Amino acid sequence: MIKKCLFPAAGYGTRFLPITKSIPKEMLPIGTKPLIQYGVEEAKSAGCNTMAIVTSKYKKAIEDYFDTHTDIEQNISGNSKEKLLEPLNSLIDSTIFTYTRQKEMKGLGHAILTGEPLIGNEPFAVILADDLCDNSGDTVLSQMVELYKKYPDYCIVAIEEIPKKDTDKYGVIDGEFIEYNIVKVSNMVEKPKPEDAPTNLAIIGRYILIPEIFDIIKETKPGKGGEIQITDALLTLAKQGKVLAYKFEGKRFDCGSIDGFMEASKYFSSNLL
Ligand code: G1P
Repeated sequence: MIKKCLFPAAGYGTRFLPITKSIPKEMLPIGTKPLIQYGVEEAKSAGCNTMAIVTSKYKKAIEDYFDTHTDIEQNISGNSKEKLLEPLNSLIDSTIFTYTRQKEMKGLGHAILTGEPLIGNEPFAVILADDLCDNSGDTVLSQMVELYKKYPDYCIVAIEEIPKKDTDKYGVIDGEFIEYNIVKVSNMVEKPKPEDAPTNLAIIGRYILIPEIFDIIKETKPGKGGEIQITDALLTLAKQGKVLAYKFEGKRFDCGSIDGFMEASKYFSSNLL
C-alpha cells in the first residue's frame, strides 16, 4: 500500500567532521553496514520496494553503494568472502533505487519537496537514516504502515517521550490520545525551548505522508533556523485533524549525535559477533 520510501540524505553531517568531509553521514557504519542500509532494510520490511533518495553532489558514495562493483565481485568470486556481499546484493537486486539532488540545503521540508518527482501522487514513507530503530517484533515503519491501513486519510509521525530538557532538538507534538499509543495531533512545534514545549512527545525520523503534503510545503514559509520545516507543513494538516502521532514499539538511537552513534555501535555489535 505504501510502496515508496523517501530518504532525505543531502545534509552535510557537520557534527561528525572531519569524517563527513568525504564520507556521507548516511554511510557511517554500524558494524559493517552503513546507516542508510538499516533504513532501506526497514523500508523493505514495511513493504516499500522503491527507495527515493534525495542526495547532493557530495553524496555519490550512496549511489555507488547500492550498485554493482565489478572489480570487487571478480576479486572475491568463488572464495569465502563472496558471502559477505550476498545480503547486500540481494537487497540491490530486489529494490528500485531512485535519486534526485537537492541543490540548496533549505530544511527537511524542502528536502522532502525535492523528492516529489520521485514519489508522484501517492502516499509515501520517510525515513531519516540517522534515527536508527530496532525492535524484536515488527519494525517501526511496519507498525506505522499497519496503522496507516486503518487511517488511510492521515499523515502519521512516530513519537517517543524525551526528557523535557531536550525538546529543542525535536519537533514536539500535542493532542489527544485516542488509543493508548495514538495521539490525534492538534499542535506541533519545531524545536521549542523546554519552557515553551507543549509536551515532551518528540517526533522521530519516521513519517507516513499523504501526497497533499507537497502542495502544503510549497506554501510553507521558512520557520526555525530560516528553514522550511516539515513540522510546520504538517501543522497545517494537523489543524484539519489529519495527523496522527504513534508511540512506537522498539528502541531508537539518535545516530545524528556522537553519543547516540556510539551507543548504537555497542548495541548492534552483539548482533555481529
Ligand atoms: C528533524 C526534524 C524534527 C525531528 C527530527 C527527528 O530534525 O526537523 O522535527 O524531531 O528530525 O530526528 P533534525 O534532527 O534533522 O535537526
